[in-house]
Amino acid sequence: MGEDSYTGNLYQRFPVTVERARGAVVWDESGREYIDMMGGYGVAVVGHCNDMVVAAIREQAGRVITVHSSLYNRTREAFLEALAEVAPAGLTGIHLNNSGAESVEAAIKFARKYTSKKGVVAMRGSYHGKSMGALSLTFNPKYRKPFSPLLEGVSFAGFGDIDSVRDHVTGDTGMIIVEPVQGESGIHVAPDGFLRELRELCDERDILLAFDEVQSGLGRTGKMWAASHWDVIPDIMCVAKGVAGGVPLGATLTRPEILSRISKGEHSSTFGGNPLSCAAGKAALDSIVQDDLAGNAGRVGSHLISELNRMAGRHRIIREVRGLGLMIGVEMRFEVREVLHDLIGRGVLMLYSGRNVLRMLPPLVLSMEQADAVLEGLEGALRSEEERRNVR
Ligand SMILES: Cc1ncc(COP(=O)(O)O)c(C=O)c1O
Repeated sequence: MGEDSYTGNLYQRFPVTVERARGAVVWDESGREYIDMMGGYGVAVVGHCNDMVVAAIREQAGRVITVHSSLYNRTREAFLEALAEVAPAGLTGIHLNNSGAESVEAAIKFARKYTSKKGVVAMRGSYHGKSMGALSLTFNPKYRKPFSPLLEGVSFAGFGDIDSVRDHVTGDTGMIIVEPVQGESGIHVAPDGFLRELRELCDERDILLAFDEVQSGLGRTGKMWAASHWDVIPDIMCVAKGVAGGVPLGATLTRPEILSRISKGEHSSTFGGNPLSCAAGKAALDSIVQDDLAGNAGRVGSHLISELNRMAGRHRIIREVRGLGLMIGVEMRFEVREVLHDLIGRGVLMLYSGRNVLRMLPPLVLSMEQADAVLEGLEGALRSEEERRNVR
C-alpha cells in the first residue's frame, strides 16, 4: 500500500482501504461492505458519520475552526457544560486535550501537584498510552523497556487484587490509576468490589484515585461510565476516543479543588478545546444521551456475550469470553491472526488484543441483526480455523 512507503512499520495493518463509513458499516474502495467491530479502536462510539456530528462539524467549520483557550468561545462552553452534565458527581473541573495519552499525562501532573507525592500505582495488564508519562503507567514491558528510563516511582499491582495494591502503596503514592475494564490486555472486567476497595484505600491513605475510561467510557459498557456499574466515583477521570464522534479530543476530569492547584501556564494544550472538536463533542454527547446508545450497547452486548458463550461450548478453540456491553474479548487457545484475516473475507472487521484475544469495540449503534451477522461470520471463521488446525 502507498502509505507504507512513508509511515514505517508502526502499526499492525490489515489489507483493507476504507473509502467511506456510516453507522456500524464501512466500505472499501471497491464498494465491499464490512461490519465494523473495530470501530476505529473504539472511537466510533456514536456510529461513523453520525448525522448530528457531521452537521455540527459543518456548521462550526464555516464559522470558526480555531480559538485558543486564551480566548473564550461559546461552542467550547457548551461542550464543557454537556460533559459536566454527564460526568460522575463532582468531576466538573475539566482540562481539554487531544488524545487518551494526553488525558493521562494531565492526570499524572494534577495528582503530583495536588498531593506533592510522586509515586503512582498502576495495574498489571494496564494500558494508558504511549507518550512517556502514559507509557510509564502502561504494564506491557514490550512497550516500556526500549524507552527506559521512564517516570520513577511507578509500580504495578495485581488487577483485582486489593492486597497486592496495598503492598504497592508507599508514603509517596499520590495516585492509583485503573481501567474499570482493561482493554488492551484482553478485556478484563474489574471484579465486583475492587473499585470500591480502591476508593476506600485511597481515602484512607490520601491518594487520588484515577479511572482511565478512555476505552470503557461513553456508554460502551451499557452505562455512561464503566465505573457506574459499581457506583464508584474517582478523583480524576480520563476520557478520549469517541468523545468527539471521531474528531481528536481528550479530556481530564477532576474535582475543581484539584484542578485549581494547577497554576497559570503549568499545563496547556494548543489544540485542546478547539471549537471544531468541541462542536463535534457536544453533538456526540447529545447523540449518546438522546439515542440511548448505552442502552443499546447493554442490550446488543449482552446478546453477543451470551451467544459467544454458547459458541464457546461448540468450539473448544475458544478458551474464554469476557466483556461488558460492547467491550468484548474472546480468548482463543492460539494466535488469532488467521481468524481476523478470514473474518475480513466474510465482511467483518475485528480487532485483536494481544496475540490470542479477538476484541470487539463496535460503534454503539450496532443492531441485533448486525450482531447476528458477526456471529455467523465468526462461526464460519472458527470452523475454517479448526479445519486448518485439525482440531474439531
Ligand atoms: C484505556 C486507554 N487509555 C489510554 C489510551 C491512549 O489513547 P490514545 O491512543 O488516544 O493516546 C488508550 C488507547 O487505546 C486506552 O485504551
